Amino acid sequence: MHGDGFRFPDGFLWGAASSPTQVEGDTRNEWADFIARDGGHADEGCDAWADFERDFRLLETMGLTAFRIGLDWGRLQPAPGAPLDAAAAARYRQMLDWLSARGIAPFVTLFHFACPRWMAERGGWANPSAPAWFEDFARRVAALELPVVHWITVNEPCVYLTMSHLIGLFPPRRRFAFPAGWRALRHLVLGHRFARAALCAANPTAKVGITKHFKHFMPYRPWHPVDLLNAWLCNAIFSRYLLEAFLRESGSGVRSTSWTGCDFIGVNYYGRMRVKGFSDVSPVSGAPRELFGRLNVVCDDMWEQDPPRLARLLPDLTRRYGLPLYVTESGFATEDEELRVRLLKEHVASMREAVGEGADLRGYFYWALTDNFEWAEGYSKKFGLAGVDFNAHGKPRTLRPIAEAYARLSRNGYWIG
Ligand code: FCB
Repeated sequence: MHGDGFRFPDGFLWGAASSPTQVEGDTRNEWADFIARDGGHADEGCDAWADFERDFRLLETMGLTAFRIGLDWGRLQPAPGAPLDAAAAARYRQMLDWLSARGIAPFVTLFHFACPRWMAERGGWANPSAPAWFEDFARRVAALELPVVHWITVNEPCVYLTMSHLIGLFPPRRRFAFPAGWRALRHLVLGHRFARAALCAANPTAKVGITKHFKHFMPYRPWHPVDLLNAWLCNAIFSRYLLEAFLRESGSGVRSTSWTGCDFIGVNYYGRMRVKGFSDVSPVSGAPRELFGRLNVVCDDMWEQDPPRLARLLPDLTRRYGLPLYVTESGFATEDEELRVRLLKEHVASMREAVGEGADLRGYFYWALTDNFEWAEGYSKKFGLAGVDFNAHGKPRTLRPIAEAYARLSRNGYWIG
């Protein structure tokens, strides 16, 4: 890529991502009672609530120009419709001021897999009042006049509902709860619309979108009708139908093709997944490594990787929806640092190809800035640009080799070496 004159467009954002429950510690939402597969608890966390600056300084060290953080609803709002907790709001303001003072653009998520406890006790997003609660929260956040342009109302609604209402790996750990899951989905769509209206009413220059997990599903046995049907259904529902529900303006019917319900699309991209019967075949679900070796595919510790598909996905999204795109999450759970650098390089090459094909891509956020609490998996999955030694006093951070490559990319706009 080096030497042929290609650079990502001026103003292209190179960032990192995080979410409150995964890094803050001192958990104030429904994850407070949750124990992960490896025995980990969100509270042990990275202590980023106690000291956010040391992680933010890593952004400066790498010369990154954007950072995705989230505001924890449970921490900010102690009861439905209640005023925001002043100390928590002040702390988030401090964080955002810190970023803007250094020219680091914040992308701020309002709902990232975590209901306040009072909401969880009332049925979470399945409660008919949920959209109004979320609207109230968004209105109060908007009234804080924080230095933020880009807002993400909801992170990965489909993953959230699958994990919380279908396969029971996230709170409230419900399985095959179709009616409640369906209600929750409708309420998430409404909540997004209400929150977007509230944020834009307070600041007409705000840009509001969602982040969507884009995964390509493939049949594990290409001849098996159940695998084929399931993969097809997952692609149709997960990747298309649910995205479009959020992209439509309210009242514009399911056949509408005007995608004015978001100002941008946040693309979270972690590769592809094979389906076998009604489950998936991936490292995170316990499929043996040798299997992927035999199939000749590269995996991290969670999923099958597929960098080339990003080169097709992004231009396709631009053609279909005409909205600005940001890769709001892409990263690799591995302790093989060569693999991490190689995968980043391949994803960047795909983005470059995508831009050449007309994708309106404006930024990339590596998941994650630091190792963190990976939900049901706990602390065993290492995604960070910086490693965290969770066993040592003070949980020290160490930038990984990838950080140097990423810093050069951010400074030069192209890949070197
Ligand atoms: C995404 C989540 C994010 C993180 C990554 C690995 O689905 O949005 O919080 O857990 O996966």
